[in-house]
Amino acid sequence: MTTHIIAHRGASGKLPENTMIAYVQAAKDGADAIELDVQLTKDRIPIIMHDETVDRTTDGYGFVKDYTAKNLKKLSAGSWKGWKYRRAEIPTLEEVLQWIAPTRLDLVIEFKNNLFPYAGMERLTIELIERYGMMERTIFSSFNHDSLIKIKKMVKEAQTAPLYSKPIANPAQYAKAIGAAGVHPYFRLLTPTLVQTLHENGLLIRPFTVNQPHLMEALIAWGVDGLITDEPALAAKIRKKRDG
Ligand code: G3P
Ligand code: MG
Repeated sequence: MTTHIIAHRGASGKLPENTMIAYVQAAKDGADAIELDVQLTKDRIPIIMHDETVDRTTDGYGFVKDYTAKNLKKLSAGSWKGWKYRRAEIPTLEEVLQWIAPTRLDLVIEFKNNLFPYAGMERLTIELIERYGMMERTIFSSFNHDSLIKIKKMVKEAQTAPLYSKPIANPAQYAKAIGAAGVHPYFRLLTPTLVQTLHENGLLIRPFTVNQPHLMEALIAWGVDGLITDEPALAAKIRKKRDG
């Protein structure tokens, strides 16, 4: 099986992360999936933003949770990366779904609820995913594994994958215990033996965030199922060189 390329926040190496232009570019670059980060606004709309504040990636300031979706839309989500991107907006999850549903792309949703719980975010997200017929093409991930347990309770067939950046004693056993279909570890936590063990346990492995060519080559050679990367074009080139 070939390693899937998952564009981390879109083609975020070159374009403003988590914007529509970054997702469209990722698709052109040959990505198989888009990874994005979901939070809730003050009026409980799921929107896409990595940080809990808008400070780093927009021309505004303050917490996402204190903005209405309408007011978030007034911010520039691109000017921090370059004046030519100044018209880029913060996407709502629904806008991304409208775009991605008719494509061939899969979706990796990350619930960003470690700092603020965003009560009900899982339910609101599931409703949207179902409305756009994306359940089979969506993987739900989070560092907050309670959210993944909730998702499995709501939708038995949902695919989940815990994110983790510190070693877990027995990740295969742990992932299976929470009903996950895969794991999304920090790439440095993987070894060829661990890849094998996880596969023997029927789990899919998608390390993050893999941006350097030699790391991409090694992880593809170990047989990981997906690479979460800011550089989908580079990953596609390396995969092509290997797969022919
Ligand atoms: O999905 C992998 C990755 O997105 C996890 O970390 O902080 O970039 O959202 P972060
Ligand atoms: Mg993320």
